[in-house]
Amino acid sequence: MDKIVILTGAGISAESGLGTYRGPGGLWNDKRIAALATPEGFANDPETFAEFHNTRRLKHLEAQPNAAHEAIARLEAEYPGELILVTQNVDRLHERGGAQAVLHMHGVSDDMKCNVCGVKYPQPFEVPWDVAKRCDDCGGRLRPDTVWFGEMPYHMDEIQEHLATCDLFAAIGTSGNVYPAAGFVRIARHVGARTIEINLEASEVTSDFDDVIRGPASEVVPMWVDGILANVGL
Ligand code: OAD
Repeated sequence: MDKIVILTGAGISAESGLGTYRGPGGLWNDKRIAALATPEGFANDPETFAEFHNTRRLKHLEAQPNAAHEAIARLEAEYPGELILVTQNVDRLHERGGAQAVLHMHGVSDDMKCNVCGVKYPQPFEVPWDVAKRCDDCGGRLRPDTVWFGEMPYHMDEIQEHLATCDLFAAIGTSGNVYPAAGFVRIARHVGARTIEINLEASEVTSDFDDVIRGPASEVVPMWVDGILANVGL
């Protein structure tokens, strides 16, 4: 049975009311915020960063998973082959939509970690992060357990192994601006996998895909999932 790897980005959560990073209304269009979300920005002004991060975490709490998150969870539950779900999103909407196993390559916004020794501290969305709180082990400053520019994403060895053995690779709601995620399609193609981009508009790497579905994720992802499950005869 075929192995499917799905990569998702901010576009899958857009219809849940969470902004994307680029494009109209994108988070990084505000240069002040983009500069803040870096190791230097955090070190220079942790208080402002914490305010920004807590506001964002509240949005993650208020947002509800949409039909695209739910369709992927259905695929995970019903697909008889192997399904690997990799997301660049730091929200928890895949899990809240029913997904059981999610590789969060850019971390999650409901965990903190020590900036010095790396010990992790759960930080439920409901509880604001107090920037004055220090690591119990080493006294270091806590920071969000999210990946900033210039840092190595999580789970890369595992993801590369899955890409190297997949039969179908799908990228959903991601602009193809940020590597290594933007390069996954090429790895999958290299091993002969079929590749599909599901996005509102052409991504930066759209020409690397065999197939393309254009449209809002909440509409087109459920249809795509129905098609896969119909093909495996369920
Ligand atoms: P982007 O904001 O770069 O791209 C979002 C993509 O989703 C765009 O191509 C949109 O066209 C598409 N899109 C928007 N609404 C959609 C909808 N309703 N249905 C389908 N597609 C839609 O977000 P990412 O590609 O996820 O990294 O960004 C990648 C990384 O850049 C993020 O994880 C973040 C950022 O810097 C870190 O913070 C480390």
